[in-house]
Amino acid sequence: MGTAKGNEHKLWLYISGQKKYTLLAMKRLFGDKEIRKKVGLLAGQISRDFAGREVLLVGILKGAFIFMADLARKMTTPVKMDFVRLASYGQGTISSGKVRITKDLETSVKGKDVLIVEDIIDTGVTLKYLFRRLKARRPRSLKTVALLDKPSRRRVRFQADYVGFAIEDHFVVGYGLDWNEKFRNLPGIYVVK
Ligand code: PRP
Repeated sequence: MGTAKGNEHKLWLYISGQKKYTLLAMKRLFGDKEIRKKVGLLAGQISRDFAGREVLLVGILKGAFIFMADLARKMTTPVKMDFVRLASYGQGTISSGKVRITKDLETSVKGKDVLIVEDIIDTGVTLKYLFRRLKARRPRSLKTVALLDKPSRRRVRFQADYVGFAIEDHFVVGYGLDWNEKFRNLPGIYVVK
């Protein structure tokens, strides 16, 4: 249950560890219409760039699954889809910068046009690692698309080929992005305050 006033949303959240509810305030950053428009623009640009070629979309679980589903349905070139799951070593929110693949692709990328699909780039560690790993498997081409980018948080140099929205250093949820696995299903993108 929650209330909404303009861009401000308040949601009751159950904290299972503490067995109590807490009121969470969120501010809408991008609504579903705005996201749909942006995804359509990205899909158009990507389809033009890959015209006449089949693209293998590689989604990074879990955050990218909604973006990838919408992007794929707006693309006009033939696509195939596969997913990887990555985990970073280290504890808490501070990543050690070391990443490993916990669920690999089921498709070979060799000789294919591959587009890595990511929900958000933060430090850049995840995408840089996956890019390097997939490049070594000799795809015909390898590009990246991220719906959101937080350039101010970068710890390693990485620039995606296609970016939806560049944002400030906010903690964002919705449209695939989570807070303790919650809120991935919100149709818009919200800043948790
Ligand atoms: C988030 C996000 C990216 C990654 C970006 O994934 O979905 O994959 O972090 O961070 P980086 O640029 O600092 O490497 P997360 O580990 O939260 O997993 P999830 O997608 O399953 O939510």
